Amino acid sequence: MIKEPKTIETERLVIRRVYSTDITLFGATSDPEVVKYEPWGPHTDVTQFMEYINQVFDKYENGDITEWTIELEETGDPIGMINVHNISPTHKHGELGFWIAKDYWGNGYATEACKAIIYHTFAELGFQRIHSITASENLACKRVLEKIGMKFEGTLRQYMYLNCTKRKELSDVNIYSVLKKEFN
Ligand SMILES: CC(C)(COP(=O)(O)OP(=O)(O)OC[C@H]1O[C@@H](n2cnc3c(N)ncnc32)[C@H](O)[C@@H]1OP(=O)(O)O)[C@@H](O)C(=O)NCCC(=O)NCCS
Repeated sequence: MIKEPKTIETERLVIRRVYSTDITLFGATSDPEVVKYEPWGPHTDVTQFMEYINQVFDKYENGDITEWTIELEETGDPIGMINVHNISPTHKHGELGFWIAKDYWGNGYATEACKAIIYHTFAELGFQRIHSITASENLACKRVLEKIGMKFEGTLRQYMYLNCTKRKELSDVNIYSVLKKEFN
């Protein structure tokens, strides 16, 4: 039987499993500004995003249930995605990744979604630590990580090829984390 991520409701958001209808978010995954600090995209063809969605379905089949779509409760519109990846069940940690479509930036949605997912991973999935990495230049993301209570741990030098350098140079990234015992 296919396992599904838990649906999590916050004040303004429904954070729920990914559906194929979320392909409507192609406008965001093809937007160079949204993926500026990502190692993937921008998608130039909708089939590239569908491939990603199919990979998420494969993950669900394999019991990996930490990929969600962020939906606006008021309208039912999908506005972004959030996941926990690079998981170590042995060491009870994982890495938080997320993005929001540009039309919705600046409303506190990323902060609201991240807090809810971190709470879920600590309270129900048994994690003890969640970390996140982001390009040193990604000020909006770093602000979100601070707002959700993550602490700056340091810089991973020349860690990733990101779109901001057209994936031609390795970029430094900053790493932030929060522990279960300090999250509230
Ligand atoms: C980073 C991102 C998820 C933020 O989403 P969001 O819903 O706008 O985030 P929030 O509204 O919760 O918070 C954004 C914060 O960053 C601040 N911010 C935005 N742009 C900024 C900038 N250029 N410099 C400094 N702070 C900035 C906002 O003012 C806000 O902080 P505040 O509440 O103290 O005013 C969104 O911009 C995004 O999807 N970017 C592209 C993908 C990405 O970078 N993902 C994260 C990878 S780890």
